[in-house]
Amino acid sequence: MRDSLTLIRPDDWHLHFRDGAQLQGTVPATARAFRRAIVMPNLNPPVTNAERARSYRERILAAAPAGSDFEPLMVIYLTDATTPADIAEAAASGFVYAAKLYPAGATTNSDSGVRDPSAIYPLYEALEKHDLPLLLHGEVTESEIDIFDREKVFIDRYLADIRAKFPALRIVFEHVTTADGVQFVQAHDKLTAATVTPQHLMMNRNDLLAGGIRPHNYCLPVLKRREHQLAIQQAVLSGDSRFFLGTDSAPHAQDKKEAACGCAGCYSAPAALPLYAMFFEQHGALDKLEAFASFYGADFYRLPRNTDKVTLVRENWVIPTHVDVGGLTMVPWQAGVEVSWRLKD
Ligand code: DOR
Ligand code: ZN
Repeated sequence: MRDSLTLIRPDDWHLHFRDGAQLQGTVPATARAFRRAIVMPNLNPPVTNAERARSYRERILAAAPAGSDFEPLMVIYLTDATTPADIAEAAASGFVYAAKLYPAGATTNSDSGVRDPSAIYPLYEALEKHDLPLLLHGEVTESEIDIFDREKVFIDRYLADIRAKFPALRIVFEHVTTADGVQFVQAHDKLTAATVTPQHLMMNRNDLLAGGIRPHNYCLPVLKRREHQLAIQQAVLSGDSRFFLGTDSAPHAQDKKEAACGCAGCYSAPAALPLYAMFFEQHGALDKLEAFASFYGADFYRLPRNTDKVTLVRENWVIPTHVDVGGLTMVPWQAGVEVSWRLKD
């Protein structure tokens, strides 16, 4: 049994930092393990253009630990008012790496999102033209559609047509949660990819609902039944380069999670890399971790792979029950769980 694991420094291809004082906690937690991160734009108000992305980027960099070379990769948030010119400007900025489509009402701070994903084809065309990836929150929002079916309905209703009409557009099916999403990605070429969160790899809806409701495992898209979890696991363990690491670490204060109407999001950043390592090891696939965490995403985004390294050492430690994030108390995802790998300082 090996007692340490050194890999090229990973990147997180889907992350929520939030803003203001919270950056003092979220940015160091991610920068410790990851060299770059695709930073989700669902602030309030959202990061809808290059100018807002520029100032948000500066706030993030100001919160990075001294001497850190952490690089935030900014994303603009598509709305019904976004124009092809906004996309051209973002693509030319040099610091915006993608555009995110949130169907309005799908999740946290998505009220300004797109009401009808089939009504913004000029934006997909502009993204394709400027070679900026489209990142999808792939769920429909209609109240009559069962929450466990929303990902599949999004694929059938919108994604299949977008994929067919814009063959050169790079698309990331963010936080894939179903066998349907996995199969859609597998059925297309390398311009269609998916990020995979630790919770959707390691958990299914029993971990949310069986034996008591567990609000810290609640995120969107919601955890699905075990057969979907197995499809995600198999895709990742197969070493398919279209599936890469994106934590979707999404902090909410403890009182907002442990509430009658609790917020969606798992704050996984404090232990994400050791948890992914544990998952790969439990499946006898530790040799596949580095490509998933450090190569495939960079290749998809056409960015250089990192050259520096991180080391994980075999050492049991327990994920803290609470952490302070800019004055707010947060419960990290998997709080209290013993992890067998620790990130070496
Ligand atoms: O669980 C989630 N939390 N899913 C999302 O899509 C957004 C995120 C957040 O920002 O809290
Ligand atoms: Zn997210």
